Amino acid sequence: MSLAVVTGAGHGLGQETARLLAARGHSIVAVDIDGDSAIQVAKDVGGRGFACDVADRDAVRALAARVGPIDILVNNAGIWRFGPLLELSHADVMDVVNVNLLGTLWCVQAFVPGMAGRGGSVINLSSGAARMHSAGTGIYPTTKNAIEALTIQLAVELGPQGVRVNAVAPGSILTEATARILSDSDRAERERTIPRGRLGQPSDVAEAVAYLASDAADYVTGQILYVDGGLTSGRVTSR
Ligand SMILES: NC(=O)c1ccc[n+]([C@@H]2O[C@H](COP(=O)([O-])OP(=O)(O)OC[C@H]3O[C@@H](n4cnc5c(N)ncnc54)[C@H](O)[C@@H]3O)[C@@H](O)[C@H]2O)c1
Repeated sequence: MSLAVVTGAGHGLGQETARLLAARGHSIVAVDIDGDSAIQVAKDVGGRGFACDVADRDAVRALAARVGPIDILVNNAGIWRFGPLLELSHADVMDVVNVNLLGTLWCVQAFVPGMAGRGGSVINLSSGAARMHSAGTGIYPTTKNAIEALTIQLAVELGPQGVRVNAVAPGSILTEATARILSDSDRAERERTIPRGRLGQPSDVAEAVAYLASDAADYVTGQILYVDGGLTSGRVTSR
């Protein structure tokens, strides 16, 4: 049985991913800065849950030492602080870069050596925002572009060790967090213009992660899979 670490597993897409990977037979290590939520998800799926801030490199290393060798790493933890670039505070920029980009790198550095010799799969979470920029979204899209570049470079570096590295880029997915910031009119507008005609569900993203984690994707590495209902390809103008 393979062991999968999912960061940001306490809520939203990470929680759904942990549940789906568990249903597909993987043992789960649920990690979240909100430790209670990680422990609850782990309890629900019969895995282990830990509180950990992925931006804290030492804490991530200590966690990896406790967890031991793993097979799958899903770098899902991510945050956003919106605002015009000219007005972003130092703290907001550093928080988003530290969690989204550096948190991903720290987890790779800590957990991938435990895959050495047995191979493994790393899946990083990008975003449709990496391809389709909107004013006022702060440094978030830049961190997601950087995650895509990091994914490709890691795929090249880790390929010889049998470790595949890919990214999933969700479009507009309905989670508790996005429901809070999406007005009814935004939602209706997206449903009208997204080619697939609906917002995404967390399961749409979790299925893509599960595929990239699986042996069915054995020859897939260095790829960015957009799970966005066509959002970043173009807009439907009449329906
Ligand atoms: N929901 C969407 O529409 C959407 C779209 C594009 C990309 N994404 C990406 O998908 C990922 C998950 O997003 P979500 O919508 O589920 O968000 P969410 O806010 O619902 O969940 C994020 C989880 O990460 C945890 N977290 C935050 N900071 C952390 C840290 N420093 N260390 C460990 N855990 C931390 C949170 O506690 C939370 O449980 C993110 O990387 C996000 O950028 C989401």
